[in-house]
Amino acid sequence: MTKSNTTPKASITAIGGYVPEDRLTNKDLELLVDTNDDWIQSRTGIRERRILKDPKKATSFLAIQASKNLIKKNNIDPSTIDMVIVATTTPDMQIAATAAYVASEIGSKNAFGYDLQAACSGFLYAMSMAAGKIESGRYKKVLVIGADKMSSIIDYKDRSTCILFGDGAGAVLFEPNNQGLGWQDEYFRSNGTQRETLCVKAGGSLFPASSTTILNEDHYLRQDGRNIYKSAVSAMTESSNIILERNNITGEEVDYLLAHQANERIIEAVSKKMKLNSNKVLKNIANYGNTTAATIPLLLYDFQNLFKKGDKIIFAAFGGGYTWGAAYYKWSKLIN
Ligand code: UT7
Repeated sequence: MTKSNTTPKASITAIGGYVPEDRLTNKDLELLVDTNDDWIQSRTGIRERRILKDPKKATSFLAIQASKNLIKKNNIDPSTIDMVIVATTTPDMQIAATAAYVASEIGSKNAFGYDLQAACSGFLYAMSMAAGKIESGRYKKVLVIGADKMSSIIDYKDRSTCILFGDGAGAVLFEPNNQGLGWQDEYFRSNGTQRETLCVKAGGSLFPASSTTILNEDHYLRQDGRNIYKSAVSAMTESSNIILERNNITGEEVDYLLAHQANERIIEAVSKKMKLNSNKVLKNIANYGNTTAATIPLLLYDFQNLFKKGDKIIFAAFGGGYTWGAAYYKWSKLIN
C-alpha cells in the first residue's frame, strides 16, 4: 500500500459557535463617530456587530462558550480531546497561552494547547496545523477555535476601524477520515514588509507598553484600509485560483466559498474573479462585522445545515502581517 492510501484525511466532525448578546448597530456608531448607516452598509455590508461588554471577560470566555456549545451539542467527552489550538489576535494576556486556559476550563485535561497568531488568517492556518496533526496519525481529536475580543483593541473614536470589527468565536473538532473526505490542499503565503499597514503598534517587544505608548494611543488597532482592501482582493483571488487549478476544479464545481468576512465588497470581488455564482458565497458579515479569527468558524457554524457529504468547499482568508491563503476541503458528515 502506498502512503497516500494509508494516511487519513482530517475532517470536521463537530462545530460550535458563540457571539455575545450585546449588539452595536450602525445607528449606535453614529452617536460615537462621524459616520452613518448608509455609508457603513454600502461600503462594508455591515449592519451590526456583537460586543462582549463585561470588562472582566476576555477572549477565553468567547472561546470557552463556543467550545462548550460544540461539546454539549455533540455529546463529546472533553477529556478525549488531544490538542486545543486557539487562533487569536487578542489573547487574554501575554505569555500564558489562552488555549491552555480554555483546554482546562472545558475539561480537556489530557490535551495540550497553544495559541496561533496570524490575524484574520489565523483560523485558516490553525485548521492546517490541526490537519497535519491528524494526518500524522499521532492525534485523533484536535479542537480548533477562532476567537477574538476585537473590542478590546478598537479605538471607538476612529471611524476607519470601529465600524468594522466585532467579537465572537467559533470552534471545530478535527478527526481522522478514511474515506478521503476533509482537508485536501492548501496554499498559504505571507509578506512581512507590510506589517505596519495593519497592526497594534505597542505592547510587544518593539514598543513595550509605557506611559508614552498609552499617551500616543498606540495600543489600538490601526490600518490603512484602502491598501489592505486591494491586497486582500488580489491575494485571496490568486490563492483561491491556484487551489482550484491545482485540484482541477472549475468555479462551477465549487459548492461553497467561505471567505474571511472583512468587507462584503472584498468577498464579492474575489468571488466574481473566481467566477462563482453568488448563491455559493456564504456571508454573515452583516450580523457580526469582522470578528478576525472567528469569521470562518462562525460561517461554518451558521451555515452547517447547508453542507452535504462530498461538497467542495474553498476557504480563503487575508489578514495583518500580511498573511493569506486558501484551502480546499471536501465535506464529510458531522457527528449529528
Ligand atoms: O481583515 C483585515 C482587516 N481590514 C480590512 O479588511 C479593511 C479593508 N478595507 C476596507 O474594508 C475599506 O477600505 C474601508 C471600509 C476601511 C474603507 O472603505 P473605502 O471605500 O476604502 O473608503 P476610503 O478609505 O477610500 O474612504 C472614502 C471616504 C473618505 O473621505 P474622503 O477623503 O473621500 O472625503 C473617508 O474619510 O470615506 C470616508 N470615511 C468614512 N465616512 C463615513 C472613512 N471611514 C468612514 C466612515 N463613515 N466610517
